[in-house]
Amino acid sequence: MNATNTPQGLPGQPHVAYQGEQLMLEGVNLSDLAREHGTPLFAYSKAAMLSALAAYQRGFAGRQAQICYAMKANSNLAVLQVFAEAGCGFDIVSAGELARVLAAGADPAKVIFSGVGKTRAEMKQALQIGIGCFNVESEAELDVLNTVALGMGKQAPVSLRVNPNVDPKTHPYISTGLKGNKFGIAHEDTLRAYQHAASLPGLKVVGIDCHIGSQITETTPYLDAMDRMLDLVADIEAAGIPIHHIDFGGGLGINYNGDTPPKADALWAQLLAKLDARGYGQRQLMIEPGRSLVGNAGVCLTEVLYLKPGEQKNFCIVDAAMNDLPRPAMYQAFHQIVPVTPRAGEATLYDVVGPVCESGDWIGRDRALQVQTGDTLAVLSAGAYCMSMASNYNTRGRAAEILVDKAQAHLIRQRESVFDTFALEQLV
Ligand code: LLP
Repeated sequence: MNATNTPQGLPGQPHVAYQGEQLMLEGVNLSDLAREHGTPLFAYSKAAMLSALAAYQRGFAGRQAQICYAMKANSNLAVLQVFAEAGCGFDIVSAGELARVLAAGADPAKVIFSGVGKTRAEMKQALQIGIGCFNVESEAELDVLNTVALGMGKQAPVSLRVNPNVDPKTHPYISTGLKGNKFGIAHEDTLRAYQHAASLPGLKVVGIDCHIGSQITETTPYLDAMDRMLDLVADIEAAGIPIHHIDFGGGLGINYNGDTPPKADALWAQLLAKLDARGYGQRQLMIEPGRSLVGNAGVCLTEVLYLKPGEQKNFCIVDAAMNDLPRPAMYQAFHQIVPVTPRAGEATLYDVVGPVCESGDWIGRDRALQVQTGDTLAVLSAGAYCMSMASNYNTRGRAAEILVDKAQAHLIRQRESVFDTFALEQLV
């Protein structure tokens, strides 16, 4: 382990660092935090989020660009507040997410509503508060939105989500821009769909968008998708339908395990060069990043409950489980796991697993750890798609969450009590 007296950020997460024998998140000692609030516990660094955002802001300097944080990655109100105060808009996918961003102080005009299955009630609520744009995903949705808007005497601002049929080269469950995916309008149907949208009096065409997948670590899929999008913009505008903004979605990956995605500013330097070359550099641009803004800002602290040596495998049983950290079970995802207070001595290979009654309940496999019962471990890169995907499976209350700001730790979500988990149920 990296036990030195100079804080040294862990790979991919400069705000998580050992200081002497203690793992710190910014200026907060993570053992103290676990002792005070219990485990499992999520903690997020505000500085890490703002520095991830700053990379995008640098990339877009001098351009007309709106960053809409894809809040499904981490939807805690205080996290949303950090991004709202920093000038971000939001990408939402449900009325629940809409209520959250409004509660966090978002400007409704900077909110875009994505998703393949918006209900009429959700459309109505979004129109009522003056949402910035609906990212519409099918021709059928255009008709429903038109009817809802006309019924309210309004015009709904729309952008059509195009499926550019580009392979993002990521896990199949998080690829979204291929022909076989449920998302977006097929490239070859796009012009017809725009003509249809432009003919409906309850809709106002304002943009075009795409989102090809998540945890993308290469630049080429973005460049290819951009080319295909710009070809469409040219065709749509030639048909007399002006496109005000172009939204390139989210998807930029982070370093979980030596992954080397481009930095946001470097990626955008290349994308903007293409936009300039094709004459679209001065358009209003939008993006919807999620993971890359919060993923490496967060850790999940968990206590070692039991060590269980075995003939084939040694198990390190911890108090966090697939209900808290669903990514390994769902996508065979890798998260680094490190001790909060490293021990000297030889490491043993363990499968780090939770208490849930499923063999799929693992957090890390074959990890070299020098641990004892009662130690605290930190699961890294846990700021995105962990707490926001957590469940109450096995009637486990969801973890508490902390926002770290320099040396201060703010409790931003209380631990759910067991009573909370069945409070909405009743005996017959
Ligand atoms: N925009 C749209 C329309 C999306 O569907 C998504 C993510 C984003 C933006 C943000 O993508 P990001 O920048 O975070 O990659 N649960 C999975 C990831 C699912 C992503 C769903 N859509 C995981 O844990 O890897």
